[in-house]
Amino acid sequence: APGVDYQAEDAVITRGAVATNHTGYSGTGFVDYTNVAGSSVEFGVSATTAGTAPLTFRYANGTAVDRPMDISVNGTVIASGVSFPATANWDTWATRTVDAPLRPGTNTVRATATTANGGPNLDRLTVGATADSTAPSR
Ligand code: GCU
Repeated sequence: APGVDYQAEDAVITRGAVATNHTGYSGTGFVDYTNVAGSSVEFGVSATTAGTAPLTFRYANGTAVDRPMDISVNGTVIASGVSFPATANWDTWATRTVDAPLRPGTNTVRATATTANGGPNLDRLTVGATADSTAPSR
């Protein structure tokens, strides 16, 4: 079954901005994280039952340097320093998937940059589906 998409441009953005200056994004844009550690995007993710779900982040990183992020769920880091490695350019999107415990109701899923480069450009989060790109995943 397809997952549920949550567009980054509709999420809560801390030290970042919605941008459209590269191609290939879904929705109405993507989030350009400020180039600073601690910049973040937080999604409100609905779940009907408790359980583990795959969280797939669609991103671009047009640099040669990894843009790792901590992934937290309901305030707890469940995946630390997740790698968001280079993509071919800023118009080329890839996915990274982490499995996360969700509880019934609304969950906060936050992706926080851990280096001074900030996060990658973030297009969306998909919950409950497998990756849709051949680029680095899992
Ligand atoms: C470039 C690029 C942005 C990107 C930024 C970065 O400015 O155009 O989309 O966010 O680099 O380094 O994060």
